[in-house]
Amino acid sequence: MSRFIVNSSKALSGEVCVSGSKNSALPILASCILTGGVSTIKNVPVLSDIEIMCTILSHLGCKINRVDDVITVDSSNVNCTAVPFELTGKIRASFLVAGPLLARFGRAEVSLPGGCTIGTRPVDLHLKGFSDLGAEHIIKDGSVSISCKELSGARICLDFPSVGATQNIIMAAVLTKGQTIIENCASEPEIVDLADFLNKCGANIKGAGTDKIVIDGTNSLKGCTHTIIPDRIEAGTLMVASAVTAGNVTLKNVNYSHLSSVISKLTEIGVCITEFGSDINIKCTMPVKTTSIKTMPFPGFPTDMQSQIAALFCFINGTSVITETIFENRFMYVPELIRMNADIKVDGRTAVINGKGGLVGAEVNATDLRAGAALVVAGLAAKGKTIINNADYLKRGYCNFEDKLKKLGADVIIEE
Ligand code: UD1
Repeated sequence: MSRFIVNSSKALSGEVCVSGSKNSALPILASCILTGGVSTIKNVPVLSDIEIMCTILSHLGCKINRVDDVITVDSSNVNCTAVPFELTGKIRASFLVAGPLLARFGRAEVSLPGGCTIGTRPVDLHLKGFSDLGAEHIIKDGSVSISCKELSGARICLDFPSVGATQNIIMAAVLTKGQTIIENCASEPEIVDLADFLNKCGANIKGAGTDKIVIDGTNSLKGCTHTIIPDRIEAGTLMVASAVTAGNVTLKNVNYSHLSSVISKLTEIGVCITEFGSDINIKCTMPVKTTSIKTMPFPGFPTDMQSQIAALFCFINGTSVITETIFENRFMYVPELIRMNADIKVDGRTAVINGKGGLVGAEVNATDLRAGAALVVAGLAAKGKTIINNADYLKRGYCNFEDKLKKLGADVIIEE
């Protein structure tokens, strides 16, 4: 079990380059199945979740070649349409191969990814979308078998703008005869990146980034070269880390518009944020003011930034309120922050944080990826040493996190 040791750090300063987006790279790698050719994906972060997706693609028959942040996927010899539990159980995003397999081969058998610490996370919206396109599914022994004679375009209205369901339905529909319209779909930047990739491969997807996507099915796709967008959650986490230490940090390779809601909240509490093209400078003089946030689908405040901002709120005198609307169990990090002397009360989907101007280091457990990031943020400004157990979670979503923080002057170290 690796541990992330964070000592109280001076103000972070300097510049660091943000890696490519994990949540964009995962569906784009899965969608390479659709092309039956060779795609080159650049700016792919080096993360364990990405490695697992590559293992799944290899299992299906894709040839994968990785050199640093460039992954080449040759899907011309895919010879398997089933993914066993050993692989799907490791990352939820494994279910994203279902749409491409169904579109290209008319069948997919994928072990259900199941819930995780942040919530039950069903895949009913994915399956409802496949069914609207004409597929049938059977759930047996924890696996779902999806099949169809032929898919045909349909009008699909999602009950909730699920990111994964939108991606899976797009991927199932691109090779489908006729027109598919997805309403109330997700509009996250990762959806736009997937549509951009598929359009370069020859797909005809319009409206990505809005709540209505129109796909005109095409007969075949070809591979292409694509560069993954910057990781907005890594950028947001580094912004909060910089703010909590009253730092002066420049993040390179960032898309400002992907971070509007986070920037708006940080600006509201008194953090100074300036955009220079694809760079963002964060300057903060503590103390800053309290505020309230509510997580929402994009362009609202991202649930994936909720725990990190909660850690920052612990250092601001007064009461801040966080309401989580996306996942039902995303306050698992709260007892860990309480070990560090935080005063936080959770009632259902709301957490009330009474900032008392600081925390003290303690031994804590990362309960999930973003919870781990929150504990790092807390540890940077807490008095003394914070030992974060289960640090492997951080490797799932933060590429070279230790090195990036060290480059900014943080006193951190990973113990394997
Ligand atoms: C993606 C991100 C994750 C982020 C989340 C919300 C990836 C790999 N992960 O996850 O980091 O926190 O978006 O921005 O991109 N739901 C259903 N039925 C479904 C699908 C979803 O009820 O069929 C519910 C989920 O349980 C959850 C909510 O919808 O409560 C949002 O989930 P969704 O947007 O699908 O998140 P993911 O795609 O799993």
